[in-house]
Amino acid sequence: MAELKIGLFGYGNVGQGVYDILTHTVPQFKVQKICIKHPEKSRNIDTSYFTTDALELINDPEIDVIVEAIDDAVAAFEILKLANAAGKKVVTANKKMVAEHYLDIKALYEKSGHAILYEAASCASIPIIRLLETYYGYDLIEYIEGIYNGTTNYILTKLFIGAGTYKEILAEAQTLGYAESDPSLDVNGSDAKYKLCINMAHAYGLYVKPSDIYTYGIETIEPIDIDFAKRSGQKIILNAKAVSNNGDVSCWVMPTFIDEKSLVYGVEDVENCIKLCPSYADEQFYVGKGAGSYPTGSAVVADIFAVERGYPYPKWKQGLQPEHLDDVQVPIYIRYQYEEQVDDLNFVRVEQKTELNYSKYMTGIVNLADLKRSKVNEDSHVFIATFSR
Ligand code: HSE
Repeated sequence: MAELKIGLFGYGNVGQGVYDILTHTVPQFKVQKICIKHPEKSRNIDTSYFTTDALELINDPEIDVIVEAIDDAVAAFEILKLANAAGKKVVTANKKMVAEHYLDIKALYEKSGHAILYEAASCASIPIIRLLETYYGYDLIEYIEGIYNGTTNYILTKLFIGAGTYKEILAEAQTLGYAESDPSLDVNGSDAKYKLCINMAHAYGLYVKPSDIYTYGIETIEPIDIDFAKRSGQKIILNAKAVSNNGDVSCWVMPTFIDEKSLVYGVEDVENCIKLCPSYADEQFYVGKGAGSYPTGSAVVADIFAVERGYPYPKWKQGLQPEHLDDVQVPIYIRYQYEEQVDDLNFVRVEQKTELNYSKYMTGIVNLADLKRSKVNEDSHVFIATFSR
C-alpha cells in the first residue's frame, strides 16, 4: 500500500478517533501534522505533531490529504477551499459546512478533480453516501428516512424508560462525546437536518437549502407526550425523511410516533438507522452508531482510503431535476394550551381532540407548507410530532 501523508485539523473527539484508528490499523497512512485551536490543552501524543498555523499543513508539499475534524463550519469551508486550491484531497466530517456548501463543494471537485469526501458527515458509521453513490446511483429512491442524530435518540430512549430528566440525560450525552459542542444543534433538529440535506442530495440529485427544510426538534417534549405515546403502545423518535411524490421530493425533520411493528422500534441509545427504499432493489434497513469518536473516525478513515476518486454524483448526471415540494399533507399530533395557538395550522382534517391535565391534544392532517410557516413552531408550550404511516 502506498504511503499517504495526512494533515489533520482538530484533535477533539473525532480527530483523536481518526488518529488512533490510523495508528493501529494503517501505519502507511501517517498523520504528519495536526492543526489545533487551543495549544494550551494537554494532549496524549507528542507536542511536535501540533501547530496552530493552518497554512503549515496546506502548504506542506508532502501532505496528500487534509482531514477536517473541527466543528466550526465557516473555518472548515475556508480550509477546504485552500486545500483544494493547493491540489490536496479533502476528507471532512463537518455536516453543517457540507450541507450549506453542497453545491460549492461539488463544483470545486468537478473543476479540480481533487476528491472531497464526507461520509462521516452523515450518520457516522453507516456508509450511506457511498451506498447511494454506488449501489443505488441508478435506482429511483422512493424514500429515505431514519434516525440521524445519536444525541436525541439517546435522550428519547432514556426518557422512555424513565432514566433521568431531559437535562440530566442531555448532560450524559455530552459527557459521552455524542453531542455537538453546541448541543442545541442536536435537540432542535439542526444536526439531523444537515444530514438529511446531504443524504437527499445524493439520493435524488436535489439540493434543498437547510433553512428550507421543515425542522422541529425535541426541546419542548414533556413527560405527558411520552405518556401519550405509551398509552397507544408507541415510541417517539426524531425522524428525518425525504419522500418522492411522482419524482418531486418532500422532506422534514420531526419527532415521529412509531409502533412496535416498525423496524426502527428497537434502534436505541446513540444508534442511528436509515430506511431506504429504492424502487427496484426495494426496502433496505441500516443501523449503526451515529456518533462517537471511533464510529465517526472509522468513516473518516474509510474516506481516506477512497481519496483517489471523488463522488461520481450519478443522480446529478442523470439530470432528473426534481423539485422540492412542500404542498403535501402530513398527519400531526400537537399538544397545546389555547385554541389560538393552532389557528394558523389550517387543519385539513381533525381526527381526535382531547383535553387532559390542563393540556389539549389534537391529531389530524395539515399541509406541510402551512405547518412550515406557522408561528406555533416558535411556541415553547407546544409539542408537535408526526406519525409513521
Ligand atoms: N451530535 C451528533 C449526534 C454527532 O448526536 O448524532 C454525530 O454527527
